[in-house]
Amino acid sequence: MKKRLSTAVFALLTLLTAGTQARTLVVYYSYTGNCREIATTLTNQIQADILEIRPAEKGQKYDADNYALGTQMLNTIKNDPDNAASYPAIDPVNITMEDYENIVVITPLWWSKMAAIMQSFLFRNASDMSGKHVGLIVSSHSSSIGTVISDAKRLLPDVTWTGDALWINAANHQSRATLIEEWLKAQNFQEKQSDTDIMYITANGHTFPVMLEDNVATRELTAILQQSPITFEAEDYGGFEKVGDLGCSLTRDDRQTTTKAGDVVLYNGSNIVLFYGSNTWDYTRLGCIQYESPDDLESFLKPGQGKIRVTLSLTAGQTHISQLCEDRLAPDTYYTLGGRKTTKPTNGLYIRNNKKIRL
Ligand SMILES: Cc1cc2nc3c(=O)[nH]c(=O)nc-3n(C[C@H](O)[C@H](O)[C@H](O)COP(=O)(O)O)c2cc1C
Repeated sequence: MKKRLSTAVFALLTLLTAGTQARTLVVYYSYTGNCREIATTLTNQIQADILEIRPAEKGQKYDADNYALGTQMLNTIKNDPDNAASYPAIDPVNITMEDYENIVVITPLWWSKMAAIMQSFLFRNASDMSGKHVGLIVSSHSSSIGTVISDAKRLLPDVTWTGDALWINAANHQSRATLIEEWLKAQNFQEKQSDTDIMYITANGHTFPVMLEDNVATRELTAILQQSPITFEAEDYGGFEKVGDLGCSLTRDDRQTTTKAGDVVLYNGSNIVLFYGSNTWDYTRLGCIQYESPDDLESFLKPGQGKIRVTLSLTAGQTHISQLCEDRLAPDTYYTLGGRKTTKPTNGLYIRNNKKIRL
């Protein structure tokens, strides 16, 4: 974090920096430098890769002769907006859109429209940007930005807009850091770590997070849990596990696995096994219960004491939860993976607002 930021922006920063690589792209075009300054101010507040769009033809004076060239470029687009040839050539860009889930577009306004150079980039990259979460910042001297927003929506019909566009103009450009900070708070960027990274398991009045593996079976399971929680009965087997029938089959990716206490695996495609001991067998790993102490796991799984009723859910609120777990899940609070509340999270994995995040 490069600057002192408010808590809300810190939260957003966390969201935008989750994962090992920057997953937010800030793309800007700037003719006279204002959008470049805005991009710099923004990337001082969030971790993001930055991409400048440059016209292929250098040294053009878009504002000469009462903005004649800029006007001409915009008219060419307006007359045939679906034709790639209407858009000015730009330098090739060296980015892989797949690497990003969030994109912030920063563009100047020209004659109330989006600057032709940025239109060119969006037109050429619309399909790669489809499904991304996109925010828009527009810089003008004084004209309002409604038509630029329309241009953006025309050029990127298949993105999810993160919220209202931010308008920065000559009168408030100097206050852009505050404007951007406020704007970021209201934007709904996509989190890298999705809900599918954690499920909750409840038994005997205790709820614990389960850190999920990323495989076909866990994706299928979380898709089912998105509809509703699953409850099943599990009983002791072999002196090391509780096993129950999930009621449906998941795709197997069985590998020889030596389990440890807390592991959750798929056996035979449709049985869920919860380990309080260890076994070596061909299983598909589903995840690991995040418990604090062996006593936690014991009072939860009750080894050797017969059938228990187990509920799997994506949100702890859908399950029968103890007071402790309600407390664990207070919003905007950081918890260790074991469910312990922490006020000073350091680097590592935490649970916040029901999601796993990496600090
Ligand atoms: C070709 C052209 C047309 C412009 N048209 C307008 C306009 O209609 N209204 C306005 O308020 N600003 C207009 N501007 C000013 C820019 O929107 C403003 O200076 C913006 O901050 C420029 O961003 P930049 O410095 O990143 O290029 C125009 C600028 C150019 C070059």
